[in-house]
Amino acid sequence: MTADWNWRSREYTGRSDMYLQTEKQQRLWQETLSGLLESQGQGTLDILDVGTGPGFLALQFAQMGHQVTGLDLSPNMIEIATEKAAERQLNCTFLQGDAEALPFPDASFDVVANRHLLWTLPNPGRAIREWVRVLKPGGKLLIMDGDWTNRNLSQKQKMRIFMGHTLTFLTKGTIPWKGKGRGYDDMSHMLPFSGVEPGKVIALMEAAGIEELKEYDVQHLLAADAESFPLAYRLSFIDSHRRFIVAGYKHS
Ligand SMILES: C[S@@+](CC[C@H](N)C(=O)[O-])C[C@H]1O[C@@H](n2cnc3c(N)ncnc32)[C@H](O)[C@@H]1O
Repeated sequence: MTADWNWRSREYTGRSDMYLQTEKQQRLWQETLSGLLESQGQGTLDILDVGTGPGFLALQFAQMGHQVTGLDLSPNMIEIATEKAAERQLNCTFLQGDAEALPFPDASFDVVANRHLLWTLPNPGRAIREWVRVLKPGGKLLIMDGDWTNRNLSQKQKMRIFMGHTLTFLTKGTIPWKGKGRGYDDMSHMLPFSGVEPGKVIALMEAAGIEELKEYDVQHLLAADAESFPLAYRLSFIDSHRRFIVAGYKHS
């Protein structure tokens, strides 16, 4: 896994940056994240971004003035996130580690967050128990993910994806999601959760001791992406995979 994510780190970063390329996307993310943290009070929060990648969430939380730690399996991702924090003069700590066995004592963080991580993990239930372990009582767990498989798509959506992939192939010579012969498919046999559904995530969070669970709408974020993504990417990706944010609290 580490080698795979190291290998795709730069290409992934380019794609990840597309979600924050316009002022509107940046503003909507800031508003969404502020709303999600509102319940935790006004002060500086200790936040862990697990599977931080190029620091998508970590850098935004740091920009909001919080004390942020970003953890990732891939040293290349950690290097990129560290570079980005330095460029923006943001004070974040980035370190290598495993989301399923965190190198932190119990009750270390006010908030544990992650985006697009759960589907990559061989043991999602174990990971969620770890995230709850390092949360302080009253702390908040935020999970953002999506059903990245194509299993529930209509013929029309499948046709759009095909057109998007064809356009990318014709203009860039690469097949999206496959890179240069390696791809996410290589890992899928190890990943029970490659199509993450909010109901299954909520069940695992509940089993790990998270309460007051709520699913949040992300349509406003997707709509802003649709306005800014290049055509090929929009055709093959936007609105074809159900995405969600679920959050809840560790009981006090
Ligand atoms: C799809 S990327 C998401 C990155 C980032 N959170 C974002 O929103 O763009 C998944 C990330 O999870 C990391 N990852 C995969 N397995 C992990 C594990 N067991 N522990 C920590 N990080 C892991 C990968 O290296 C990669 O950076």
